[in-house]
Amino acid sequence: MIKNWFSQFSDNLKEYGGYSIGKLFALLSDPEIISLAGGLPSPEMFLKDGMRTASKNRLQDNIETIMQYTNIKGESDLTKAVIKFLERDNIHISEENIVITSSGQHGLDLTGRLFLNPGDVVMIDRPTFAGAIVAFQLQRPEFIGFDIEDDGPDVDSYGKKIEKLQKQDKKPKFIYVVPDFQNPSGITTSFEKRKALLDISYKYDIPIVEDSPYRDLRYHGKTIPSIFELAQKHDYSNVIGLYTFSKLFCPGIRVGFNIGPKEVIEKMTNIKEGNVLNTPKYNQDMCTAFLTEMDMETHLEKCRNYYSEKLNIFLKTMEKYFPPEMGVTWTKPEGGLFLWVTVPEHIDTYKLFYEALKFKVAFVPGSAFYGENPGKNHMRINFSFASKEQLAEAVKRLSKCIKNYI
Ligand SMILES: Cc1ncc(COP(=O)(O)O)c(C=O)c1O
Repeated sequence: MIKNWFSQFSDNLKEYGGYSIGKLFALLSDPEIISLAGGLPSPEMFLKDGMRTASKNRLQDNIETIMQYTNIKGESDLTKAVIKFLERDNIHISEENIVITSSGQHGLDLTGRLFLNPGDVVMIDRPTFAGAIVAFQLQRPEFIGFDIEDDGPDVDSYGKKIEKLQKQDKKPKFIYVVPDFQNPSGITTSFEKRKALLDISYKYDIPIVEDSPYRDLRYHGKTIPSIFELAQKHDYSNVIGLYTFSKLFCPGIRVGFNIGPKEVIEKMTNIKEGNVLNTPKYNQDMCTAFLTEMDMETHLEKCRNYYSEKLNIFLKTMEKYFPPEMGVTWTKPEGGLFLWVTVPEHIDTYKLFYEALKFKVAFVPGSAFYGENPGKNHMRINFSFASKEQLAEAVKRLSKCIKNYI
């Protein structure tokens, strides 16, 4: 009998604990708690009729192939539909540049596995998406973080940091960014900073991993070209794009896609062979139906209107219940599903989380979103899932809780 399983675990996984916030989510089962913690899109935005029809038709006509193994790189129908989907965003690629993934998280996992050895440097935002941190952590890299400013990461510090690393014979493996309505901050990276990031990428020969789950969820302001689009004007070579259907269609379907240079996509496909093999054909076909049969543009417009209304309610109620003397500030996103609240420095939001539960409201403590040296006085707020009434009530509860805590 094996008494010490720990000693059997691989070096990469011995200390690996998955999501640090997982156990906090387990505390949210009380139905009276209004949770602004998860990253859930609203089920009101699910295309229920379209899904039922697409599902019924496909299962009726095609069940024998749908329930079979399928090719690893992805269904050809879906790949073609994705190429068209990207063309509306000025991204022009061919089939050799895409691998269908089993979700955005899987896309991140393939990226981490492909590029990272233990100790390799990854440049990330401070804060950044917690799921990217856990996916990359599987390979035990070293994270170097760059503060997020109102217009995106502090790009000016990149060059200095890279040159410092060069003196130690180190070179970052890649730069990971979420330029549109970043999770968790809701901040959008400006055009100038996107160009500057690309310049850095070419100057120092470091790939950029651009994660874009929210790009189609812009509520106001002008769309800014993706870094992938900007890279096409060079030679296509330096940027890898990660996408998911989770926020635009539904997360339960677990389908996404990675795009990039042929060599990268080939290798990611090889890795996929060793982890999920193929993405279920049924799930892929549902995504094809979303892109080709379900009037996606009308649906996206509806999502934008709906989420934008929720965001406005949230921001207006914040202004009312968080007067300047409370010393609380928050970002004002132009899209996406999240915003970032900063409380006075002496408040540790991890402790505040437990207080907030007593007031029947929940958020994610900001410390979960750092690869190193976590900030303690922030929280991530999701505004897409709770109802409009709940959102306003949650802000009141949060305000009471913080006043009480101070
Ligand atoms: C920036 C970012 N990347 C990737 C993902 C993962 O998406 P999926 O739910 O498809 O795994 C998320 C989900 O919240 C996200 O915010």
